[in-house]
Amino acid sequence: SAAEKGGYDYFMLKEIVEQPRAVADTLLGRLSVDGQLTLDEMRLTPAELRSVEKIVIIACGTSYHAGLIAKYAIEHWCRIPCEVEVASEFRYRDPILDQQTLVIAISQSGESMDTLMAVRYAREQRARVLAICNVNGSTIPRESDGVLYTHAGPEVGVAATKTFMTQLIACYLIGLYLAQVRGLKFGDEITAVIAQLATMPEQVEKVLSTVEPVRELARSLSDVDTVLFLGRHVGYPVAMEGALKLKELAYMHAEAFAAGELKHGPIALIEDGLPVVVVVPSPKGRSVLHDKIVSNIQEVRARGARTIVIAEEGDESVIPYSDVLIEIPAVPTLLQPVVSTIPMQVFACELALAKGNDVDQPRNLAKSVTVE
Ligand code: AGP
Repeated sequence: SAAEKGGYDYFMLKEIVEQPRAVADTLLGRLSVDGQLTLDEMRLTPAELRSVEKIVIIACGTSYHAGLIAKYAIEHWCRIPCEVEVASEFRYRDPILDQQTLVIAISQSGESMDTLMAVRYAREQRARVLAICNVNGSTIPRESDGVLYTHAGPEVGVAATKTFMTQLIACYLIGLYLAQVRGLKFGDEITAVIAQLATMPEQVEKVLSTVEPVRELARSLSDVDTVLFLGRHVGYPVAMEGALKLKELAYMHAEAFAAGELKHGPIALIEDGLPVVVVVPSPKGRSVLHDKIVSNIQEVRARGARTIVIAEEGDESVIPYSDVLIEIPAVPTLLQPVVSTIPMQVFACELALAKGNDVDQPRNLAKSVTVE
């Protein structure tokens, strides 16, 4: 009913605007003002977490993209090797697991059969399994050794939005907590990240208040056939998420590339008028990656692409090469997906609506995939 949708035509629209709240609720009680993390609720003891020698993240779809982002954060903060794999491939390739392996299974529903089968397989191999899940008491957390719940509230739209956002928060919390229990000295960088993590609800709110031009842009592109997405570092999984959202909601061909791979093939796809969405890393300290991606924007534009650039506010270097510029707040690099994903969600949702699609119930899809 209209009341359930909070006055919106679709649950998805409501769920997108609920993200600041979802993020705040997922942080609540887990992050204290002095920068200490409290995650005892996970049911894994600090001793167990100290013995971890390798992390393997398994998930599907959007949850897999959260896992890819987690890898960058966990390896950087904790220096624990971390692999990420789609759950449907995992148990069919004889993966190397033992008691020192921590498997993190990310599933908003807790019912994805591919992920559940991977969890069962990992436990048979004596790995410890920690679930990240949004549904209390669902199968995956019940069958795991531990769980960190996300508090996004119920998500009705088939396309994951607020649950993804809270999965990111959960991954950051786990990464920082692992560093904490393993006694790693928190340098200035991690201290700053913890402080910034606490401000994420406001940052998300800020992005949401500036996305109207993204809606206009999406409506203007409703008859294109293909959209490409480029990113680097954590911006690459964000690009993948942007492409997945567009496929599932707008039924369009959409593909994401690591921008450094462009020259190895995909650049041949660029033709006149092709929309290319680019996620630009923070320009702070003129990072190598930032400048490289600005070159990529120039390269695709020189070949006729219509560039839609998502960049940090005040990043003037991208202005000359952006046909459309979407600004996001300045946040630490590893946290940027929290703000850069939102324009992707709004873009896909609005484009799908412009095509007359039902964004809550896209064709051929189910909210949770309970078959292998
Ligand atoms: C996301 O928009 C999709 N509906 C889908 O890829 C989803 O993320 C995937 O099926 C995993 O679901 P889960 O998180 O409930 O396990």
